Amino acid sequence: MVCLGNICRSPLAEGILKSKLDSNKYLVDSAGTGHWHIGNKPDQRSIEVANNHGLNINNQRGRQFSQKDFQEFDYIFVMDNSNKDNVLSLAQNDEDKQKVHLILDEIFPNENVDVPDPYYGGDQGFENVYQMLDQACNEIANRL
Ligand code: 4NP
Repeated sequence: MVCLGNICRSPLAEGILKSKLDSNKYLVDSAGTGHWHIGNKPDQRSIEVANNHGLNINNQRGRQFSQKDFQEFDYIFVMDNSNKDNVLSLAQNDEDKQKVHLILDEIFPNENVDVPDPYYGGDQGFENVYQMLDQACNEIANRL
C-alpha cells in the first residue's frame, strides 16, 4: 500500500487489508514515496478512524518506498495517480510495472479515481478514506 507520506492513507489501507487476510499466508505492508515521515507513527486522525473501526495501526512506522519493494511484493496498490507516477518511475521492467495498481480501480474500474489526500482536511476526510479503502480491500481480499 503506497501513498505520499505513509502516515494517512496507506497505513489505513495496510491495517484494513491485514484485517481481511490470513497473516500466515499474506504479507501486507505500506510505504510512502516521500521521505519526510520515515520512522513516524501514523497521523493521529488515521489512528483514531482505525480505532473507531476496531483496528489498531498504532505500531506502524513510516518508511519510504524503494526499488527492492518490486522484488518483495506481488501487488503494489497506490492511492493516487501521483503516487503511481512516482512508483512507476522506479520500475525497472514490465514485470515491475504490472504490479502497480490504482487501489480504487478495485471498486471503480477504469475510472481513474484517486483516494483524496486527507492530510490538510478535517476528520470527516479520514472517515471517507476509510470507507473507500474498506470497499477496495474487500475486493482485493475476495480475489486473493
Ligand atoms: P498521505 O498524506 O500521503 O496519505 O500519508 C500525506 C501526509 C503528509 C504529507 C503529505 C501527504 N506531507 O507532505 O508531509
